[in-house]
Amino acid sequence: MRNVTKDNITDVFLSYFGPDTDPRMLQVMGSLARHLHGFAREVNLTHAEWMQGIQFLERMTEFTDKERHEFILLSDVLGLSSLVDMLNSVPDGTSSSVMGPFHIADAPDIPFGFDMKRHYEGEVLLAHGVVRDPDGAPIEGAELDIWQTAPNGLYSSQDEEQDTYSFHGIQTTGADGRYGFTTVKPVSYEVPTDGPVGDILRATGRHAWRPSHLHYIATAPGFRPLVTEIFPDDDPYLDEDTVFGVRSDLVMKYQPQAAGSFPDGYALSGQVSGPYLMADFDLTLVRAE
Ligand code: BEZ
Ligand code: FE
Repeated sequence: MRNVTKDNITDVFLSYFGPDTDPRMLQVMGSLARHLHGFAREVNLTHAEWMQGIQFLERMTEFTDKERHEFILLSDVLGLSSLVDMLNSVPDGTSSSVMGPFHIADAPDIPFGFDMKRHYEGEVLLAHGVVRDPDGAPIEGAELDIWQTAPNGLYSSQDEEQDTYSFHGIQTTGADGRYGFTTVKPVSYEVPTDGPVGDILRATGRHAWRPSHLHYIATAPGFRPLVTEIFPDDDPYLDEDTVFGVRSDLVMKYQPQAAGSFPDGYALSGQVSGPYLMADFDLTLVRAE
């Protein structure tokens, strides 16, 4: 086509696809082109703005490496990660939520009752619950990959003071499906703003805060993996999470507990000396097709 115009360029683009193009590729790329061209038409994109966009993407690549996933962060603050998550969620299970960029593969195995808090200062939180199937039966052999920030609001990969696997661990459930560990009460924190994503937040008058949370990935043979987070109901940022990760079934109350009183099955007197908080949260996994 030599007579390309601003009105027919989208159709011309679509006509360039080869006859053997995978149908899903055709659908996704076709829709992307329609929306991208439609966006440029709608805002009447100028050369300067187009160049600003290109330079933004170039800066994104400069900031991205094995540990700094600036593109995931961009997707998170644009709401795309959460939208994709919700489009692919299934009923009958615990809601999924964003994984974020700070998960570490191959975290160490931790036993039931493990003290993730170690020497760190902060309010003690006993997080526990049962991993269940959709009928409510406990799942034996479920793996729960757990991670959170230290009390300074930083994940281990952001903080030279922490060991690689500080506040990261994987626990496997027994026949009762139960998981349980002590830690420090998670804090609200800001997502990194020293890169191009921070520029977008500032340019649009947004803050970078996430409500405090514990991250979980629950996996078990025969079940869909669940990537999720749990949030306390009194966090000031619950209704304005900058990455849109909060779902109502993931919000729970931390229950204050008296010193020396522990739930059945927990021998915590050595690791919890005073009053503490308890997060009791069951996770329901959905069967894989
Ligand atoms: C997190 O919760 O770790 C996170 C999620 C999205 C962006 C940044 C951090
Ligand atoms: Fe997080």
